[in-house]
Amino acid sequence: MPFTYRGDRLFATRKADANARNEEGGRDLLELARGTEGPFYVYALSDVLARARRLRASFGGQSASLHYAMKANGNPVLLRALAREGLGVDTVSGGEIEEALAAGFAPGAIIFSGAGKTVREVDFAVRSGIKQINVESPQELERIAHAARRSNRVADVAFRMNPDVSPRTHPYITTGFRENKFGMDESFIPELRRVLAAHRDSLRLRGLTLHIGSQLTELDSLEEAITKTLPVFRAFRAEGHALDRFDIGGGLGIDYSSDETAGEFALIEEYGRLANRLLGPEDCETLCEPGRILVARAGLLVGQVQYVKTTPHKTFAILDTGMHHLLRPALYGARHRVFPLEKRPDAEPRAYDVVGPICESSDFLAKDVPLPRVEPGDYLAIADAGAYGYSMASRYNRHALPIEVVLD
Ligand SMILES: Cc1ncc(COP(=O)(O)O)c(C=O)c1O
Repeated sequence: MPFTYRGDRLFATRKADANARNEEGGRDLLELARGTEGPFYVYALSDVLARARRLRASFGGQSASLHYAMKANGNPVLLRALAREGLGVDTVSGGEIEEALAAGFAPGAIIFSGAGKTVREVDFAVRSGIKQINVESPQELERIAHAARRSNRVADVAFRMNPDVSPRTHPYITTGFRENKFGMDESFIPELRRVLAAHRDSLRLRGLTLHIGSQLTELDSLEEAITKTLPVFRAFRAEGHALDRFDIGGGLGIDYSSDETAGEFALIEEYGRLANRLLGPEDCETLCEPGRILVARAGLLVGQVQYVKTTPHKTFAILDTGMHHLLRPALYGARHRVFPLEKRPDAEPRAYDVVGPICESSDFLAKDVPLPRVEPGDYLAIADAGAYGYSMASRYNRHALPIEVVLD
């Protein structure tokens, strides 16, 4: 992660690579916390950009387009930087399309995904002339065709297939399994053909798309999913549709239990190689929709300890931030590491439950984490919180949203 201790203090380092650990400079996070009102997210932009470049390089010379899944983190500064870097964007609502356009993404760089697109959202997407709508049902395809006719346009679409694979990840973030609401299996194809034929002038089938799940740490299931979907891709081509894109979705995961990035960088390499090996012979543009892998490591959530409460069973560090700002632990049982912004060097670590102010027992950020002695007024940083953190935050119990600080 682009944050490291210098002496007893946690700093944001300036570069995303390992050498940064020795580099002087960077930002003292305690100083930042003392100057900030309330809990905050801090993001190291350079780390996000370095990862985007690494991911792009993993495809080598192959024609590949990265579409950042902005649901992971829609911070406008970050979006602007990724648009300048030449990435496209994957959106899942009319609101996200609006924010992507405002951040400088060209319509031709925007994909619209999601299983519940409304008439208004589809109209807006078609009128905006975005690159591609990823279609989740024949009814949606029909809706897109009508929107295209209304605005006198031809809509470029890709069919989201459900290849019925079960990646090893949390059940709430598998999306390509037969029991999930996402995508379509082969039984949908006759109906898709019928709608395509009925709306030839309004629809152009450009490709197929997959997204089998999030927080994948191995790619066997993705390989199986692509392999299972390729015959459908070829069949549509053989029927005369000019498919020239294959979208492999997002899903690359990180190791939340460690600072070690070698595993995820190897996964990025393998991802590009896999896409090249399977899709290179198809002569099409490879699209991908990475979210977490680009932004998770780059963010910390910082809160201040309000109380330390010791019961006969536990010691709780009660912060001014909690599940309303970072839902992942409550929602998925996700484990994040916790670091004090300033360590007490003399203190023996002991186990704390790091919890928030919300009136729910699911309001925890970490359980049984070893920390040097913690006292009221101390600041704690929740690590690897750059993805699905602020973007899932709410004002539950009418607490304010956290502030976001983007470094560099
Ligand atoms: C359609 C689609 N694409 C891409 C992503 C990004 O996934 P990740 O952040 O795991 O890369 C998601 C996440 O839910 C998604 O639903």
